[in-house]
Amino acid sequence: MTTRITIRKPDDWHCHMRDGEMLKAVLPYTAAHFGRAILMPNLIPPVRTTADGIAYRARVMTALPQGSTFQPLITCYLTDDTDPDDVERGFKEGVFTGAKLYPANATTNSAAGVTDFRKIVRVLERMEKIGMRFLMHGEVTDADVDIFDREVVFCERVLKPWTRQFPGLKFILEHLSSKTGAEFVRAHAPQVGGTITPYHLELTRTDWLGSGLKPYMYVMPVIKTEADRQALRKAATSGEACYFLGTDSAPHPFKSKVSVNGIPGIFNAPVALAVYAKVFEEEGALDKLEAFASLNGAMHYGMLPNEGTITLEKQEWTAPEEIVVPGPDERALVHHGGERMAWGVVA
Ligand code: DOR
Ligand code: ZN
Repeated sequence: MTTRITIRKPDDWHCHMRDGEMLKAVLPYTAAHFGRAILMPNLIPPVRTTADGIAYRARVMTALPQGSTFQPLITCYLTDDTDPDDVERGFKEGVFTGAKLYPANATTNSAAGVTDFRKIVRVLERMEKIGMRFLMHGEVTDADVDIFDREVVFCERVLKPWTRQFPGLKFILEHLSSKTGAEFVRAHAPQVGGTITPYHLELTRTDWLGSGLKPYMYVMPVIKTEADRQALRKAATSGEACYFLGTDSAPHPFKSKVSVNGIPGIFNAPVALAVYAKVFEEEGALDKLEAFASLNGAMHYGMLPNEGTITLEKQEWTAPEEIVVPGPDERALVHHGGERMAWGVVA
């Protein structure tokens, strides 16, 4: 039985690092385990322009623990009015790694997102031309579509036509949550890649709603059925190049999560690698963890893998209950907080 595994240093291809005091509180957890992370631009206000991207990257670098070699990868938040010239400038100057679609009002801090997909056609044409990656919160928000079907309908109605309209554009369907979404990615690889979160591999809607409401399991896209979970586990652990690690670690103040109008997102950076290792072990696929965590994403983004390594060991430890955030945010719950974790990062 494998109880220790050393892999190339992983990257997190989807992470919410936030800003201000929350950024300072959560950044060390990602920087401790990952070489790079794609930082989501859904701040308040969002990272919309190259100037915003330069300023956000500087704030992240300032918040980094001393001596850290962690590299933040900044993304551009698309709006109805995004200027293709500015996007190109940000990409060519190495500020933006990609641009991110939030359909307006699909999730946390997406109110300034895209209200009509036709409004970003010129930006997508430019991104295709310059080789810039297109990251998507792949859900429609049409009133006639049930919340559990938002991803599937996005694939059919929006992404499928886009793959034909922009054959040279590389897409990332983020936080895959459904069997159909995972199959769509496989069928459209290598043009389309997909990230998979720890919690979509672990949880079903029955865990979330079946024996007491667990507000911290409320995320977007919502957690789905056991059949979806099983399909995602098979996809992640297949080693196929189109699937890669993206934690979607998304901290929120406790009072925003546990509220009559709770907010989606779960802070999992402290436990993400432990969860992935457990899932891969359960699936008998620890030999595929390196591809998923450290190689496939870099390849899809046209980057080299990290140079260093990380070692995980089957050694129990207790996840912190919560993190303390100075100021009005106070504290944020940690996914699996207070629980014994089977795998840990030891080096
Ligand atoms: O659960 C989520 N939380 N999904 C998202 O798409 C956004 C994220 C956040 O920013 O909190
Ligand atoms: Zn996210």
